[in-house]
Amino acid sequence: MATDLHGPVNESVRHAAGQSAGAAPGAAVRVGGLVRSFDGRAVVDDLHLTVRPGEFVALLGRSGCGKSTLLRVLAGLDREIEGEVLVPRRKAVAFQAPRLMPWKRVWRNVVLGLPGRPDRGTAVRALDEVGLGHRADAWPKTLSGGEAQRASLARALVREPDLLLLDEPFGALDALTRIRAQQLVAEVWQRRGCAVLLVTHDVEEALLLADRALVMAGGRIAYETEVALPRPRDSSDPRFAALRARLLDRLGVAGAPVPPPEQPQSPAPARAHAGADENGTDTP
Ligand SMILES: Nc1ncnc2c1ncn2[C@@H]1O[C@H](COP(=O)(O)OP(=O)(O)O)[C@@H](O)[C@H]1O
Ligand SMILES: [Mg+2]
Repeated sequence: MATDLHGPVNESVRHAAGQSAGAAPGAAVRVGGLVRSFDGRAVVDDLHLTVRPGEFVALLGRSGCGKSTLLRVLAGLDREIEGEVLVPRRKAVAFQAPRLMPWKRVWRNVVLGLPGRPDRGTAVRALDEVGLGHRADAWPKTLSGGEAQRASLARALVREPDLLLLDEPFGALDALTRIRAQQLVAEVWQRRGCAVLLVTHDVEEALLLADRALVMAGGRIAYETEVALPRPRDSSDPRFAALRARLLDRLGVAGAPVPPPEQPQSPAPARAHAGADENGTDTP
């Protein structure tokens, strides 16, 4: 379910474990030495990460490597951590499951949890932004999967986030709906200019959307690469294929052809997934 913390735009908030660094000038996210353990096992282990304001970062990694754990920490949903986490006060998160309250109309779901009196106009504006204004008074159970996911995105956008956290938001959508949803997120990101951290297991999705792709392994960011390709991205571009092969190799996907550096390759045929994420541990 989307959530947020409210406060002045651009004011950073520090989570937990008090080191003495100041706010994060020039950064939307600054994480240093982050550790999160469950039952004595460090799932996130001395992780360092900086995200620039307005930057779109994709986070890849094998199922169970700690992506959702990191996202929940950044969202402020989990504070049992060591290390330092600086994030904007205005942030919002959307998960794979839209998690709409079935007994509330769509617009009320969108403004659920906002301070003050629920304002239908505010909800409808956010719904309009995702092409769903006409369903404002619908009941959640009457929405298609893609519509429900757009409502979830509207619920995040209504928070006017400086940081948008997305945890496999397209994972449950069919292929066509998924492409539309990806395009919508790209449009929203370009219009809003907020920083985005997108967790995905889909290398292609990461390369279509992100400025930078990270691979998480061993509890930290084990690999990262800039995606310095013109937008809109063309998956048949040899540079795209080369990046895809390199990321798949870093993800340990067997059989991924890895081109030598600087050498254009012919595009790889298959759409590439690094293994579906089966767990649902993202509940606040
Ligand atoms: N609340 C929790 N209690 C115990 N173990 C957890 C909890 N949340 C996550 N884990 C464990 O931490 C590991 C990373 O989980 P998660 O961050 O959900 O992985 P990912 O999103 O990369 O698939 C998994 O082994 C998971 O079982
Ligand atoms: Mg996950």
